[in-house]
Amino acid sequence: MAVKSVLRMGEPCLLLKAAPVEQFDTPELHALIQDLEDTMQAMNGAGIAAPQIGVSLRLVIFGQKASDESKNPRYPDADSVPYTVLINPVITPVNAEMEDGWEGCLSVPGLRGIVPRYVYLQYAGFDQYGNAIDRLVSRFHARVVQHECDHLDGVLYPMRITNLKDFGYTEVFFPGQNIIDD
Ligand code: NI
Repeated sequence: MAVKSVLRMGEPCLLLKAAPVEQFDTPELHALIQDLEDTMQAMNGAGIAAPQIGVSLRLVIFGQKASDESKNPRYPDADSVPYTVLINPVITPVNAEMEDGWEGCLSVPGLRGIVPRYVYLQYAGFDQYGNAIDRLVSRFHARVVQHECDHLDGVLYPMRITNLKDFGYTEVFFPGQNIIDD
C-alpha cells in the first residue's frame, strides 16, 4: 500500500486516547495494517502504533516475520519477537518486577532513553480477523508491547524516563554504532 509519514512528538494525535476498533476483517482495516507494516519496515522499526500515522485506533503491530529476521541486526541479543497484529489490547503485568532498558521511537527520532518496564507481561487482544490473542511474555518482547500500547493512551516513552540524564541523542550515547530509530 504505502509508506506513511510518522508523526513526531508534539503532534496532538500522539497524545490522544485512541478508540477501539469496532469491526474486524474489513478492507479498511487490512489497508491500515498494510500501511503500518510498510511504514515500520521502511523505517526498520521494532513496532508501530496506528496513532503514529495519524489514525487514532487501538491497533499496534510489532515484531518481525521469520523471513526478515536476518535483515534487522539492531537487537542482536534480544529475543526475537514474532510479527504480531494486536488490536484492542489489554496488558497486565504478571508481577511487580521491573527492569530498565534503552528505548527509541519512530516519533522521537534521533534520541534514546532508559525506561523502566515490567519484565513479565500478559497481553490479550485480537488479530485483524477477530481471532483472540493471549500471551505471556517477558523481557524485550514485553518491553515492545508496553511501548506500543502506551501509544494508544497518548504516552510516549520520554514521559516514563525516571532520570532525564538517561535521555539523549543516539549518536552521542552510542557513537559509531549506527543505531537507527525505532
Ligand atoms: Ni514508539
